[in-house]
Amino acid sequence: MRTETERNAKKTEKEIEKLLGKMTLDEKIAMIHGAGLFRSGGVERLGIPPLVTSDGPMGVRAEFMDDRWIPAGNNDDSVSYLPSNSALASTWSPYCAYEMGRVLGAEARGRGKDVILAPGINIKRSPLCGRNFEYMSEDPKLTATLAVPFVKGVQHNDVAACVKHFAANVQETDRLMVDEEIDVRTLYELYFPAFKAAVQEGNAYSVMGAYNKVNGVHCCENKNLLDLVLRGEWGFDGVVISDWGGIHKTKEAAACSIDLEMSVFPDFDEYKLANPLKEAIAKGEISEEAVDCKVRNILRMMFRLKMIGKHRDERRAGTYNASSHRQVILKTAEESMILLKNEQRLLPLNAAKIKKLVVIGQNAVKTHSDGGGSAEIKALYEICPLMGLKRYLGGNVQVEYYKGYHVPEKPKMYDHNWQADSLDDLKGTNIGQLVRDEEHMQEMHRRQAEERLAQLEKEKAEIREKNPALFAQAVEAAKDADAVIFVGGLNHDSDSEGIDRVDMKLPYEQDMLIEELLKVRKDLIVTLIGGSPVEMPWRDKAQAILWSYYAGMETGTAFAQIIFGSVNPSGKLAETFPASYADCADAKNGQFGLWGRIKLEEGLYCGYRHFDRQRIKPAFCFGHGLSYTDFAYSGLTLKAEKGRAVKVSFTVKNTGKRIGAETAQVYVAPVAPRVDRPDKELKAYTKVELAPGRSTKATITLKQEDFAYFDETLHDFVTDAGDYEILVGASSGDIRLKGIATLA
Ligand code: BGC
Repeated sequence: MRTETERNAKKTEKEIEKLLGKMTLDEKIAMIHGAGLFRSGGVERLGIPPLVTSDGPMGVRAEFMDDRWIPAGNNDDSVSYLPSNSALASTWSPYCAYEMGRVLGAEARGRGKDVILAPGINIKRSPLCGRNFEYMSEDPKLTATLAVPFVKGVQHNDVAACVKHFAANVQETDRLMVDEEIDVRTLYELYFPAFKAAVQEGNAYSVMGAYNKVNGVHCCENKNLLDLVLRGEWGFDGVVISDWGGIHKTKEAAACSIDLEMSVFPDFDEYKLANPLKEAIAKGEISEEAVDCKVRNILRMMFRLKMIGKHRDERRAGTYNASSHRQVILKTAEESMILLKNEQRLLPLNAAKIKKLVVIGQNAVKTHSDGGGSAEIKALYEICPLMGLKRYLGGNVQVEYYKGYHVPEKPKMYDHNWQADSLDDLKGTNIGQLVRDEEHMQEMHRRQAEERLAQLEKEKAEIREKNPALFAQAVEAAKDADAVIFVGGLNHDSDSEGIDRVDMKLPYEQDMLIEELLKVRKDLIVTLIGGSPVEMPWRDKAQAILWSYYAGMETGTAFAQIIFGSVNPSGKLAETFPASYADCADAKNGQFGLWGRIKLEEGLYCGYRHFDRQRIKPAFCFGHGLSYTDFAYSGLTLKAEKGRAVKVSFTVKNTGKRIGAETAQVYVAPVAPRVDRPDKELKAYTKVELAPGRSTKATITLKQEDFAYFDETLHDFVTDAGDYEILVGASSGDIRLKGIATLA
């Protein structure tokens, strides 16, 4: 007997064939390439609308002109600014992930979009990758368990999520051409799982192919990735969209499972899947059936989104800038901030005892929403930390702000983002005369990278000149205050699409300033905002360190509530914070940020897997994050279940004085593996909120696949019999309970 869903699916397939049968080749071709920078062509005659897409992960991007990377300049396209995926991941909360997805989907639909180009779920391989702020974690399990609810939340609104960038988009240097050599096991165990989960469990309607090559072939033309893995092994029947300009060859793209070519150029008819495809079909080099396959996938998604078909009138309308969205955004921001260190319980500050507060550092006043590349947002508003602190304290407290260090001015973002830059050489030329030559593009990017390095050198001189006066002023002010908060970190000048960071250091000589401030204020509260880890050479001297990723429009509100204790921090690191970049696997093997080709020699040993194996102590380990209360772990029991599953139970108790939430993490460590395997791997986690003195029993079932590794010879996951240590803890470096599970 067929189920209702199967029957409906069958009907939809019939409808698709009917429509396809009525379409001319030109109409089909119109549907599979961009007809505007963010939309495909439709077939009006048959009631098929264009597919309208928009970036991105942190909110719905402002409107561009249809054929130019110039903002349309509207006043109706400001939106809710959501916490970045890196912030979301530090909540370790699938609930927040669902809610963030739901908000993003509603806003996208509210703005009339069909596909939202999010979430970004690439594994963070190097702390220097410029797009890390858009991605979630170095760990595939954590990424997968957050990506799935996020996608479901988005699609609840009849908008497609587009999980990106498939696959292994790990660096921005030479982003369009770099070839990544990755062994098959590493792909299956590290770089694939989140995409597989997003597609199979999250039911993502679309996937974006990455710019880079994997093992010699561009991802958007990669039969192995798209046909064999994504569609063949995972059963994906949605739409694969190219990254903007990710397709290079007509025949290759026609012959593999990429369905929609998007690009940065406005000569839409010249797209590889436009006129060149038509010509190749006319010459008999490509069959029309190749086009039909793509159109089928697009139509199928349109039915799912209720863009066409008999459920059209039932499509959700969505809305944007709803006040309920801001509530969810605030809650996620609160859960995302990570208390890295808190000696002498310096935090929270008692607001009642503060008459004068000194705030130092440019991230106190900086808003970040309009930067980063395609993730930029025109935010309805963004509360910076200084505003958050002032709003919290009110008018009776004297709050003084000092810049502390100099930040050189950069040109406005839209003139500067990658997409606009790609067209830089084309200024003054006519559409049709565009230089689309790959070598030329690569050369242009190389030149831009060199110019950037030269620019950074120039800026250093400017900073050296301006900082002494700013330092002196800040240090003087710090001496006379009830509390001093430093708010520094990074910004989208370095956390950005199109560029990688040059090092892992705090820019603008912030380390020097922090050292100076710590000399006069032992109780300095160091807070940092950024999209990726930084070295903190002063970390042993600082008593309190709070880290926040770009946490959305309510950043300042959440920040103040945590500083003054109305909210108890519960964020945990979704990535390792190395003591120094030199400790990282990619720094050791030198295979990052190169042009042309990189070999991911470290294989599976990325993030904590590398630090564990090399016995290197990071500054702050994966999973770390403190609370204003304490949690005790006890009573681990392991019980074998059917199908080689293991039921893991333990108790978490709030032994402190405040209500708080703890994320208990479960790692699996094979005792005597038959093949080389990471020392331990995260397989499950649970976040529990507890009142003081209360405890809860957590029960998690590890499935057979949680013990598996990928066997290249069998081309399948294998679970060996034997002993596995089950480690339960507050972080990867703070294991509280251990037990052995034996698999038959
Ligand atoms: C980025 C994508 C983005 C697309 C459209 C590309 O440059 O890599 O993440 O969705 O542009 O703006």
